[in-house]
Amino acid sequence: MVTRADIAVIGGSGFYSLLDEAEELQVDTPYGPPSDVITVGRIGSRTVAFLPRHGRGHRYPPHRIPYRANLWALRSLGVRQVLAPSAVGSLRQEYGPGTLVIPDQLVDRTSGRPQTYYDEGGAVHVTFADPYCPAGRAAAVSVARAEGWPTVDGGTLVVIEGPRFSTRAESQWFASNGWTIVGMTGHPEAVLARELALCYTSLSLVTDHDAGVEVGEGVSQEEVFAFFAANIERMRSLVAKVVEALPEERTCPCGHALDGIKLPFELP
Ligand code: ADE
Repeated sequence: MVTRADIAVIGGSGFYSLLDEAEELQVDTPYGPPSDVITVGRIGSRTVAFLPRHGRGHRYPPHRIPYRANLWALRSLGVRQVLAPSAVGSLRQEYGPGTLVIPDQLVDRTSGRPQTYYDEGGAVHVTFADPYCPAGRAAAVSVARAEGWPTVDGGTLVVIEGPRFSTRAESQWFASNGWTIVGMTGHPEAVLARELALCYTSLSLVTDHDAGVEVGEGVSQEEVFAFFAANIERMRSLVAKVVEALPEERTCPCGHALDGIKLPFELP
C-alpha cells in the first residue's frame, strides 16, 4: 500500500486513472481540507499523489480553490515535485488549441486570493524571479516533443482572477506586453509551492485563442471544457511519462528556497 508520495499531479478529474495500487487519503491541514481526497499510488517506479484541483464535480471555481491547503497537504505526504497540468487561452495567433506551453514566467493578475503561508511570526521573502522548476520544465519539454506534441519551451502565463474570461481590451493588452498564455489557476499555486520549497512545473494546454486574438464572439466555458475533455486521455499519458522522466535527485534550486530563512513554524 502506498501512503506517501514523492511527486504530485494537481489536475483535472480525468487524471484519476493515472495511478496503480491507488489508495485514497483524507488529509487535513491548518488551512482546512484540500480540494478533495488525495489519491496516492504508483506510476512505474515513482510514488505519486493525485489531487483534483477543482474537487469532485468541479466544485471549486478558480478563485475559491483552497490553494494553501492543497500544497500543504501534498508536502505533508512527502511530495517534493509538483506537476500542474491546466487549460489556458492563447495570446498568440500561432499557438492554437492543442499546443502545449511549458511557461518559464508568470504574471499575477489575481486579487484577494490568500497567497502566502507567512502571514505572521516574522518576515519570509522567497525568491520568485524564476517561478518554475528548471528540471521539471526540461523533462516536460523533452517528453512532450518526443511524444509529438507541438510544444513551446518557455513563455509567460498571465493568471487572471476570473471566474469571467478577459475582455478583448484586457486580452489585447496582455498580448501587447509579450505575454503568451492566460489562465485562472496558475497563481497562487506556483508561489505556494515555492514557499514550501517544492519544485513546480506548469503543463499548460491551449484550449482556445483568447478574446484579443480571436475574431468571433469571445471564449466560452463550453469551448474550453469540451476541448480539455477531448484531450484528457492524451494529457494523462503525457503526464505519466513526464512523471517517470523527472529526476530522482533534486539538483535544482527549488529545494533551497528557504535556506537561511528563519521560519515561524515547521514545514510538514
Ligand atoms: N482557461 C482556458 N482558456 C482560458 C482563457 N481564454 N482565459 C482564461 N483562462 C482560460
